[in-house]
Parts: sequence; structure tokens; C-alpha cells
Amino acid sequence: MIDFLNIKKNFPIFQKQPDLVYLDSTATSLKPKIVINKIKEYYEEYSANVFRGIYPMSEKATIEFEETREIVSKFINANKSEEIVFTRNATESLNLLAYSLGRKIVEPGDEIVTTIMEHHSNFVPWQVLAGEVGAIFKVIDIDEEGYLEFRIQNSELLKQIITKKTKILALTYVSNMLGTINPIKEIISEFKRINPKIIVIVDAAQAVPHLKIDVHDLGADFIVFSSHKMLGPTAVGVLWGKERLLKEMYPFMYGGDMIDEVYIDRTTYKNPPHKFEAGTPAIGEIIALKEAVKFLDKIGMDNIQIHEKKITDFAINRLTNTFGQSIKIYGPKNIEDRGGIMSFTFDKFHPHDIAQILADDGICVRAGHHCAMPLHTRLNVPATVRASFYLYNDERDVNKLIEGLKKVKEILK
Ligand SMILES: Cc1ncc(COP(=O)(O)O)c(C=O)c1O
Repeated sequence: MIDFLNIKKNFPIFQKQPDLVYLDSTATSLKPKIVINKIKEYYEEYSANVFRGIYPMSEKATIEFEETREIVSKFINANKSEEIVFTRNATESLNLLAYSLGRKIVEPGDEIVTTIMEHHSNFVPWQVLAGEVGAIFKVIDIDEEGYLEFRIQNSELLKQIITKKTKILALTYVSNMLGTINPIKEIISEFKRINPKIIVIVDAAQAVPHLKIDVHDLGADFIVFSSHKMLGPTAVGVLWGKERLLKEMYPFMYGGDMIDEVYIDRTTYKNPPHKFEAGTPAIGEIIALKEAVKFLDKIGMDNIQIHEKKITDFAINRLTNTFGQSIKIYGPKNIEDRGGIMSFTFDKFHPHDIAQILADDGICVRAGHHCAMPLHTRLNVPATVRASFYLYNDERDVNKLIEGLKKVKEILK
């Protein structure tokens, strides 16, 4: 039995700010002490570059660095650690795919399919690619509740979305605004049945930190996520891809570490993942990511998901019971279909004013379009307030949010 009420003890920020109500883990998560200590260990004890030196400090750094790759690979059940590429963030992983894969396989008249609920990082790179190449950019809509528009069984609609010309399907696992958990496995299997050649890219930035992910089971070709949203350091992104596809792709950036041999008239490249890791990476941060993964693993992703579901359910019920019609919460009504993300509007109060008043009481939420402007336009709302929950949140945080919102009402009415 995991004692979620005591988990805050592992996060030094709560010792410095005991009253902190952090409800913005969708933007970035807090970091446990073991992660912070690991970065410190690298900088204090073996802060050499990786792959270059034959002296002990560099060898130690390289071993620690590659160990993270191995641990991340096991965490998502990849075939081998060579399928894990380190980038700067999920955004860079997606841009890498748009350049190195997209510009290789997408031709004029081909189709790239994405959804209206994407974060800009999984929308703009594909929109730009389609514009450059002369491909068709298709966007799957949502229904009124915030589910992707098609039901898997509606094969007619599916056939309009996925055709023989579809080259890439890029979609999110969990919406960073609606909280919707898309039935990714079923979507991939249905879409690949219509066109087995499509390449499926899953933006798992809001999934890997919160759900158990098994890339084998999922059936995707690529998934991307960020270290900083899963208790790890900033400046580290992950791209997982099938080895065969990674080998076929163009390099992303050229320079040190990604080459095999360089001559005046030609250059050859290393195999993946190094082919995609030009220049010095965020060594200490990548080394420390493994501590975050071990921490999550120890608690258990299933336990984390159950815990988040419980708080989200509690929060939705409390908000609705306390404020009734004044609160509009977006996303699926069935708690089983959503992650720990709750975006809402409150009366006619401006989301930024709400966030500001809450901030004055140490309650951290997000206000704005959350890098999902097409979705907000679709929902006909310029901005929302977003509260998001992670393993260190509990009912006490929700109660403080409710008190904060009562104050908002007092001040802005
Ligand atoms: C669903 C989703 N995709 C991509 C990103 C981009 O992540 P990063 O800023 O780490 O690149 C985010 C960030 O909030 C996100 O929520």
C-alpha cells in the first residue's frame, strides 16, 4: 500500500514552501531529492564529457549516461536501449521526426493526419511540413464531450480519415487540456488495418509520467516524452522509435559524436541512437533521469494512475457541488477516460485573474490556451484555467483550491 499522503517528504520544495499547492504538473513536475542529488553527484564527482575520454571520470559518466538509456528503455518495454534517442524535450523529439522522417517519406499529395486536441508541438511541425511538401494536412475533430470524433466502430468515418495516401498519423495519448485518454492501442490497430503502411507517432508527454506504457503492446512506431514532466530534470526529451525506422531516417543535426567517418568529400554516420545525438548532451540531467524513472517504478505506474484518478474525481465533484453552473469543466465525464488534468472556466471571470488570485495564496495553476490554441478555438473559449494533479497531490490540495476559488468569487463578483 503506497502512502501517498507522505510522498511530499521526498520533494525538497515542500520543506522550503510547506504551504505550496502545486497544481501545474502538466507544465512541469516537481523533482524528488534523489534526482537533485544525482545531478549534484555528476557535477561534483565525475563531470566529464561522455564517449570521449578514456580516463576514469569520462568512463564513469559514459556508463551512468548509458545506464539511463537502458532504464528508460525497460520502463517503456522497448526492444533495446538503442531505440532510445535523447533530445532536449518532447518538442524537439517531434521536430526531429518531422525533419528526419517526414521530409524523407512525405510527398506531394500525401496525407498527414493529426487531431484538434494536439499540443502545438505535435501540430505545427506537421502543418509546416505539409505546407512545404504540398501534402494534405488533416485534423481529426472531437465531439462535444472531448473524445476524438470517430468511434472506432464507425468504419465509414475512419475510412475518410485514413486513406491509402496517409503517410503519418501523429496524435496525443492524453490531451494536456481536456485530460482525455485516447484509446491509442485500438486507434492504431484500426488505422493500420485500413492502411498498414502508415507511420504512427504518439505524443506521450502526458502519458508516460502518469500511465503504464508498453510500446510493444501499443503498436506505435514512435513515441515521444519529456523528462521534466516525469520528475526528471529539464532539458531532456526522449524519442523511442523502431530500430528499422530510426536507421532509415535522415540525421537531424550534423556535427560531433554523430559521425562515423568524415572526409573532405563525404561523411558517414553512426547508427542510432548516436546518429541523432549530435554535440554534447545534457549529461548530468540525463544521468539523473534514471533516478526519476526508478522512483516512479518503485511506486508503480498503476498506483499512480489510480491515485490521480481518485483526486481528479474528488476535485471534479467538489468543484461542481460547490459552484454548480458557475463552473464549466472540460473533457470526458467518465473518470475512467481521463488523466489528472482538469481545465475549467468559472463564471465570466478571466482565467488570468483567477490564476493571479490563486497565486497570491500559493496555489499554482495555469491560465491560457495551454499551447492548444486550435482546441480552444474549437471549443469557442479563448482561455481556461487548468489544475493538474500528480502523485504528490492529495485531497488537501483540492480543498485549498476550492477555498481559493471562493475567494476569487468574492473578489471578482
Ligand atoms: C501533450 C504535450 N505534448 C508536448 C508537450 C511539449 O513538451 P516540452 O515542452 O517538454 O517539449 C507538452 C507540454 O506541455 C504536452 O503537454
